[in-house]
Amino acid sequence: MTDVKKLFIKTYGCQMNVYDSERMAEAMGADGYVLTETAEDADMVLLNTCHIREKASEKLYSDLGRLKPLKQAKPGMKIGVAGCVAQAEGDEILRRMPVVDLVVGPQAYHRLPEMARAGRQTVDTEFPAEMKFDLLPERKAARGPTAFLTVQEGCDKFCAFCVVPYTRGAEVSRPVDRILSEARDLVARGVRELTLLGQNVNAYHGVGPGGDYTLGRLLREMAGIEGLERLRYTTSHPNDMDDDLIAAHGDLPQLMPYLHLPVQSGSDRILKAMNRKHTAEQYLRLIERIRAARPDILLSSDFIVAFPGETDADHQATLDLVRAVGFGAAFTFKYSARPGTPAAEKPELPAEVGDARLYELQAWITQQQRAAQEAMVGREVGVLYEKPGRLPGQMVGKSDHLHAVHVDDPSGKVGELVRVRILSSATNSLAGQRLR
Ligand code: 5AD
Ligand code: SF4
Repeated sequence: MTDVKKLFIKTYGCQMNVYDSERMAEAMGADGYVLTETAEDADMVLLNTCHIREKASEKLYSDLGRLKPLKQAKPGMKIGVAGCVAQAEGDEILRRMPVVDLVVGPQAYHRLPEMARAGRQTVDTEFPAEMKFDLLPERKAARGPTAFLTVQEGCDKFCAFCVVPYTRGAEVSRPVDRILSEARDLVARGVRELTLLGQNVNAYHGVGPGGDYTLGRLLREMAGIEGLERLRYTTSHPNDMDDDLIAAHGDLPQLMPYLHLPVQSGSDRILKAMNRKHTAEQYLRLIERIRAARPDILLSSDFIVAFPGETDADHQATLDLVRAVGFGAAFTFKYSARPGTPAAEKPELPAEVGDARLYELQAWITQQQRAAQEAMVGREVGVLYEKPGRLPGQMVGKSDHLHAVHVDDPSGKVGELVRVRILSSATNSLAGQRLR
């Protein structure tokens, strides 16, 4: 029998990283590693980093600094750096931090077990010809009721502020049969809701039986999987919302009425400088078409304030767009220059300007989010139970519209999809009563 070794993974950033960490844990599981909750307890520590905003590499180096004494006390311990900072910094990490044993970019995770076995420092930031997921072992463990499934990786959009095209590489879609078999396998292990992941998921164009598949066609195919009750997808670009995908929101009861569709700004001048390739008006028209297909859909978005050159009038245009759409949720970010991106060449706005605009935009979003939540009171919604609540007899799950919902239901079970009448709205969740 192989010795049991303990692996601690710290995951920063997006859902893609959460998914990648799960797959890395599975790959290391084949080498006798089990997951543990703390770095102190671990034989191997893996930091799965994110480079999208703020001082990602500073955060990494300070975390590594904290791990150094642990490793000194436990010389056999291995320390690995994965994710987008690993991709961006490569062997610079080993030079600055000799405690690190391996640096692995997002496309090379299938090599992680072999790198962990090597008795020397290793770096792999290559982009292999095949997609990494098709090189990683299949999933095996039992699952909760919801899961992510990566269908597409990378991005060719080159928004002026964004590192993703550099750290995750060009857009690649997984073939339909691999996705379907992974989905069926997850459903067989208890999953009832799948969120299809991709940096630019609605640009999906995979090879399948009978030709090319768009995301709309893939979703239609997946809706036929028995036992798969709910489908979601994220993150999308407005320019890739084609007619069939929009129509799917009206046609497929499994496709949940929630769409994350980042717009970033409401000013045409800034959208152009960001290389988003659409106007505010085009975004608004698109929202109208989506709502025509699925009137009760909740929309969410990402916004960046204080992009280089943003004036008060540009910021006002963003607020106007927010007012015009009425979002159910949104993430708001202050622009942060990413080395190597075109926007990083331009002079930045004073920090106070960004702070004030962020505060103002956030207040608008919070108010819209509350309104959207309150509008659910009295309505009947589907809720998929994900876990017991904090109070005895209580279950917590997500509604169709992705609201967290608490339900008093002593006989409720994790994985049940129930009908619930919403009774009240709190700051970040709803409460309801089970109907059936
Ligand atoms: N500065 C601030 N926000 C950014 N995002 C991406 N790059 C940056 C950056 N340089 C935000 C965008 C994107 C989300 C995932 O992160 O809004 O949609
Ligand atoms: Fe980055 Fe998204 Fe733009 Fe791609 S579409 S460059 S991932 S912000």
